[in-house]
Amino acid sequence: MNIMDQMTHRGLAKLAREFGGLVHLRLGMRHAFVVSTPDVAREVLQVQDNLFSNRPATIAIQYLTYDRADMAFAHYGPFWRQMRKLCVMKLFSRKRAESWAAVREEVELLLSTAHASRGTPIDLGEAVFNLTMNITYRAAFGVRSEHGQQEFISILQEFSKLFGAFNLADFVPWLRWFDPQGINKRLVEARGSLDRFIDRIIDEHVTNPKPVDSLDTDMVDDMLTYLDTGDKNTNNQSAQVDDELQSSSFKLTRDNIKAIIMDVMFGGTETVASAIEWAMAELMKSPEDLKRVQQELAEVVGMDRKVHESDLDKLPFFMCAMKETLRLHPPIPLLLHETAEDCEVSGYHVPARSRVMINSYAIGRDPKAWEEADAFKPARFERAGAPDFKGSHFELIPFGSGRRSCPGMQLGLYALYLTVAQLLHCFEWELPNGMRPSELDMNDVFGLTAPRAVRLVAVPTPRLSCPCFRVLSLCFCFLYVNKSLRGLTIMDKELLCFGMCWLIKVDCVMSLKDMKQGETTLDVYTLD
Ligand code: HEM
Repeated sequence: MNIMDQMTHRGLAKLAREFGGLVHLRLGMRHAFVVSTPDVAREVLQVQDNLFSNRPATIAIQYLTYDRADMAFAHYGPFWRQMRKLCVMKLFSRKRAESWAAVREEVELLLSTAHASRGTPIDLGEAVFNLTMNITYRAAFGVRSEHGQQEFISILQEFSKLFGAFNLADFVPWLRWFDPQGINKRLVEARGSLDRFIDRIIDEHVTNPKPVDSLDTDMVDDMLTYLDTGDKNTNNQSAQVDDELQSSSFKLTRDNIKAIIMDVMFGGTETVASAIEWAMAELMKSPEDLKRVQQELAEVVGMDRKVHESDLDKLPFFMCAMKETLRLHPPIPLLLHETAEDCEVSGYHVPARSRVMINSYAIGRDPKAWEEADAFKPARFERAGAPDFKGSHFELIPFGSGRRSCPGMQLGLYALYLTVAQLLHCFEWELPNGMRPSELDMNDVFGLTAPRAVRLVAVPTPRLSCPCFRVLSLCFCFLYVNKSLRGLTIMDKELLCFGMCWLIKVDCVMSLKDMKQGETTLDVYTLD
């Protein structure tokens, strides 16, 4: 195995099988430690997490995050704490209705795309990536900025390449001045493009501010509230916002805003897309489990409407399948941390500024923690006391645990659950060209996330009964009743017709609700 293969989640898991839960490596001048068992993960993420909560950064990360002006790569400390508060309380909060609305509306569009391609293969991986890209883009910039999306995607792609590029200067610092791979030049160009793009959007938002109490603010609107314009009586809305952040005179620069937007784009796009694609692939590879999930959906939701948010809590087996997917395929397989001081782990000395990689992939497949660890078996989570992924069961940490755990978990899970539930409830899925489930390629590739190596292609066939068809059938019944049951009294006929109209009305109410995609109650939409 060459060094690059060894440094992936799979390569490091192999090393752990040979050398144990804590492995020490020397990378040039740097010490690196790999954590691969739940016990050692608990030591670094819970017992001593104050010492393990810094982030390592390469030259590319340092430059592209405006010198760690974001949250994801900021070291642990007062600045990070303020940024985290901003994200948890404002940007990723459930109260920001716009992000949740973006999820519902984009999922509806995905369903329409699948419906339009019924009976023919669609690249589900690509479709799901577009879905999550649209969701995060809309949550960040709002619907006003949709026209520049393609340009933004190109910028993100270049950022992603630069984040993942192997830069010799990271290991031999003096090479940085010679730049033998031409990386410095690319870094300057990439950040320049981002500056031009986001400055334009920030200017648009500054020129057309939304009212403070507006319900459809995007993340840029929310952050502009804290923009430091250098003027105490600025025309931003800070004076009117009375909250904890405001009272601590927290201020953001334009660089902070740009860097946080990139956190959201990188944190929220590929992670969610990869989880959705893996969930669909694992279920298609396991027809018995797929059947159970679809049966549960049919029983709880019924076959004449789509899934609503309130249904999700009533789908225990579906939830087990989602947990099992995140156990086998944590979207961020290696959690990158750095030590703030010298310390000790499992009796070994760990120097300050060591890079610590917590291998969430290896931990999720640790044979001591899991029976048949490599097999997809959602039923294992039906057992009482089975682990969950909220961060206190260290054998399952797809969102990390402790201070640096994922602040976007709620939004990410909502997008994952709603998309997979709708796709499985609204369609039957088959592999193309008679491919058998056992032939599905389940390899992944290593980057910031670990998506499927081969995109999932599948053929959708609509599964729900069409409301229009039901309305037509009821009309025919109505005519039949009127014509055939001549023996009935007027009263009986009226009663029958009343029953049918009630059914039609419910059906129409359902489809109106679907069109609104909201968690509305029946009394909001009546036909009266
Ligand atoms: C299925 C979806 C997701 C998964 C599995 C996931 C997983 C993770 C993991 C493992 C970490 C690092 C934890 C650590 O270092 O210990 C993380 C951090 C982070 N995630 Fe997520 N994430 C998801 C969705 C999202 C979404 C939707 C957003 C934003 C909208 C987001 C934003 C972030 C940010 C900003 C951080 C850095 C936190 C910090 O350093 O303090 N994530 N996520």
